[in-house]
Amino acid sequence: MSEMVEKEAVGESAQAPKTKKMDRTEKEPTILEEEFPLPDWVADWAREAPKLVVRAPGPKSKAIIKIDREYVSYAYDRCFTFTFEKASGASVMDADGNVLLDFTAGIGVENAGWTHPKVVKAIQEQAAKLIHSMANDAYFEKEALFAKLLHEISPGKALKGTFFGNSGAEAVEAAFKLSRYYTKRNEHVAFFGSYHGRIGAGLSLTSRLKLRYSYGPLLPGVVFTPFAYCYRCPFKQTYPECGLWCADYLENQVLELGGPTGQISSIIVEPIQGEGGYIVPPKEFLPRLKKICEAQGALLIADEVQTGFARTGKMFACEHFDVVPDILVMGKALGGGVPLGAIIARNEIMKKWRPGSHSSTFGGNAITMASGLAHVQAIIEENLAERSAKLGAYTMKLLREMQQRREIIGDVRGRGLMIGVELVKNQYTKEPHEATTIQGKCWRNGLMTITSGNYGNVFRIAPPLCISKAQVEKSLSIFEMALKDEEEFLKIGTSAPPG
Ligand SMILES: Cc1ncc(COP(=O)(O)O)c(C=O)c1O
Repeated sequence: MSEMVEKEAVGESAQAPKTKKMDRTEKEPTILEEEFPLPDWVADWAREAPKLVVRAPGPKSKAIIKIDREYVSYAYDRCFTFTFEKASGASVMDADGNVLLDFTAGIGVENAGWTHPKVVKAIQEQAAKLIHSMANDAYFEKEALFAKLLHEISPGKALKGTFFGNSGAEAVEAAFKLSRYYTKRNEHVAFFGSYHGRIGAGLSLTSRLKLRYSYGPLLPGVVFTPFAYCYRCPFKQTYPECGLWCADYLENQVLELGGPTGQISSIIVEPIQGEGGYIVPPKEFLPRLKKICEAQGALLIADEVQTGFARTGKMFACEHFDVVPDILVMGKALGGGVPLGAIIARNEIMKKWRPGSHSSTFGGNAITMASGLAHVQAIIEENLAERSAKLGAYTMKLLREMQQRREIIGDVRGRGLMIGVELVKNQYTKEPHEATTIQGKCWRNGLMTITSGNYGNVFRIAPPLCISKAQVEKSLSIFEMALKDEEEFLKIGTSAPPG
């Protein structure tokens, strides 16, 4: 492991202090020798990205958007006027033929690359034979084989017994129900900044008020506690001197003094917070949660919907922290692009869930099993965890160099190809800088990117893992151009301590 990756493994992020700038650069590896070209199967048109043929939205896109705005619900909060026509590898094309590089992987879905041929073939062949397999009532070979594979790749090979549903939120629902069923308790701990979905249990475990607003009362029995967000520590502490104040607070204040009755069923955590802003906790955080769970007789639920399947440089992000959860939640990349979610658990827990305890008409559906199995197999066969780790370390290095040049970048953090770039108005005050206009400039210049974070100020660098080194470099140059523009416009770049 390179020194830089090692530093990351202790949860250190590239924070702003100017005095450290030189040290950090000196320690980082100089070049990535491997080229990491695009795989052969990527379409020719996709290799030319970015290629902009008309100012977006072009005429075809405008026509689509017009119908959409009349007939599709406004509940979806569309970031931009992009219309999907097709996608391949790490490139996407709109209805007018504009080709963009992609830093989103469809929000952590297309890990092996858009329209991976093994996934396409598996879906086509399965569709010609059987579409709906009644997999919750009857047996289906691919469901059995997929569950076996998930056991084999689970952290420490220690989890066995999968329940398949249709989305990440449904998988969270299943984890929530299983934890209550198994522990016979009904109180849960979740974290500020968490995102676990938009329905039932998932929404009740999601902290952001904006998302919860209008839907109350949500499920009772959920208490929120601060996540280990070291860049903006709510306790104004500094890691590692703090000794994990946030975990102490959970243990000594939340669980001992207030809120729940001491009858905690589960603690649910994203090993690296996704929607909360791609936040990597220090390496001791998850092991502490595991210990707290053991002491409480509660289950640790790891929500790996966004972090799973090689995204972070390991098959599951829990592995960075040497923690095996009691229940692991999967979604997004699990299906390779079709709607699929699942949980896998310690076998003694899963075995207690008696027949009829939970079910779904489409869980284990033939198409989703064929697609998901092919996608996960491709991730394994193409060694995408290693590619993600190496290309991720290289991308992080480039971003940290960029941080030396761009004062709008407050923090760079991540694992593998799950990297967050947090924008600030001033590196000393850390006042958040909302990213929408920069995001717009990226899209206009041929880079599809999205943000996250409580202040909408964290860029997610999460491309398909098949992205080439050259494409990463090109994408980052578009990204930096947009940052530079914004800095010039807002006169950011003269950070000084306040007062
Ligand atoms: C960590 C996490 N859990 C759960 C979900 C919900 O997944 P879905 O949108 O498939 O319901 C998401 C979605 O972004 C997520 O990031």
